[in-house]
Amino acid sequence: KNLVVLVSGSGSNLQRIIDAIEQGEIPNATINLVVADRECFGLQRAKNHGIKNILIKRGRTFCENLAKEIPGNTDLIILAGFLSIISKEFCENFPGKIINIHPALLPKFGGKGMWGNHVHKAVLEAKEKESGATVHFVTPGIDEGEIILQKSFPISESETVESLAKNIHEVEYEIFPKAINKVLED
Ligand code: GRF
Repeated sequence: KNLVVLVSGSGSNLQRIIDAIEQGEIPNATINLVVADRECFGLQRAKNHGIKNILIKRGRTFCENLAKEIPGNTDLIILAGFLSIISKEFCENFPGKIINIHPALLPKFGGKGMWGNHVHKAVLEAKEKESGATVHFVTPGIDEGEIILQKSFPISESETVESLAKNIHEVEYEIFPKAINKVLED
């Protein structure tokens, strides 16, 4: 199976996918390309593993430029901490082939502005009893696509934005490879 991974940040989820492929947890898969929309450590991780990587500048023409770079044999496009918005046209070109990981229990705490610590802050302010991570299909509505896999955990009394971020990353490392396998098997 041929994968493309999009990143904007530290890329620890990308690392998890690289490791999962190396360990046979995601069988018969290769990352053919990593794309970043800004300079970030995610790009470096791709370089470290000899994976083809490119930087496409953010902005209005991002998705058009991205579409030109996606290899024709691509089975799945994975957003792993990717912050640009994917256009309707791009979604329509790759129906059912784009997935994203979100650091909350969608459909709650999704949409515009809901990324990174903004999400965790909103969850704590809403006095939610649990949080978690969601892997979902990408559609033109931000964070609105069908849910593939989700895992929750209880929020403790002493939870902070930082502890939530850390706990959610752990959950993400657990569910992301599973969700990828689920989609690749279908
Ligand atoms: C993750 O929490 C993911 O849910 C969100 O961005 C974060 C990326 O972290 N979309 P990393 O770059 O994979 O470490």
